[in-house]
Amino acid sequence: MIGSVVHAFESVTSTQELAAALAREGAAAGTVVTARHQTGGRGRRGRSWWDAPGRSLLLSVLLRPPGPVAQTPQLSLVAALAIADALATAAALRARIRWPNDVFVDDRKICGILPEAVSGDGRSVGHVILGLGINVNQTEFPDALATRATSIRLLTGRPYELVPLRRMVLEALDQRYARWLAGGFAAVRAECRRCSSTLGERVRADGGVEGVAVDIAEDGALLVDTGGGVLTRVVSVPADDTEAREVANDAARH
Ligand code: BTN
Repeated sequence: MIGSVVHAFESVTSTQELAAALAREGAAAGTVVTARHQTGGRGRRGRSWWDAPGRSLLLSVLLRPPGPVAQTPQLSLVAALAIADALATAAALRARIRWPNDVFVDDRKICGILPEAVSGDGRSVGHVILGLGINVNQTEFPDALATRATSIRLLTGRPYELVPLRRMVLEALDQRYARWLAGGFAAVRAECRRCSSTLGERVRADGGVEGVAVDIAEDGALLVDTGGGVLTRVVSVPADDTEAREVANDAARH
């Protein structure tokens, strides 16, 4: 289902924008927008997403999952696992997931994930646009990223063709997403834990929660030991959707 329709462009402002427009027009779940370059690529927290034209995979995947909007952040973890699968298959790389939205290899970021949710009626998800930026053939990065980012080419010493790689990523995402649809977060939780670079680390989350990340909860929240075994739930929220933020924060308080 995912990737059976792919709209491919040379250059766009942001694939997220085009996917959002297609979603509003009723495009089918699984529709993908991709481009070789973005002039206004979006990252999380209002940041921009830099790319070197033709050297990365820039993808926005339209999903229409059933269920409440508070489940949406689980999709970032599902996508991160799929990216890890594809990196292993295509390039024999062992990727780790930095909860909730980043994929790292050798302590450097290789992929960023931007989930943007638009609510439907009540508390069901209208649609989610999963933005994926995967560093493939970059051989250098701007100064601000140079010590923190990496690419498949830098790690393996050879270039990769983007289209076959895109197919692999979408196929892996399709499989992981199907598992999540059928079995919920329980179906991917163990692997999220196994691939996590966050568990065991000291973390500081929005809202001032600080401590050691000890587990990923049944719903995908991060459980942080803030001292003396007191566990605090940290919930990630999809971008740009006020209702989702409120629902997720609500969930975090309970
Ligand atoms: C992050 O780590 O901040 C998330 C980055 C997400 C970037 C991707 S690239 C394809 C899609 N289009 C965008 O404008 N952003 C996402």
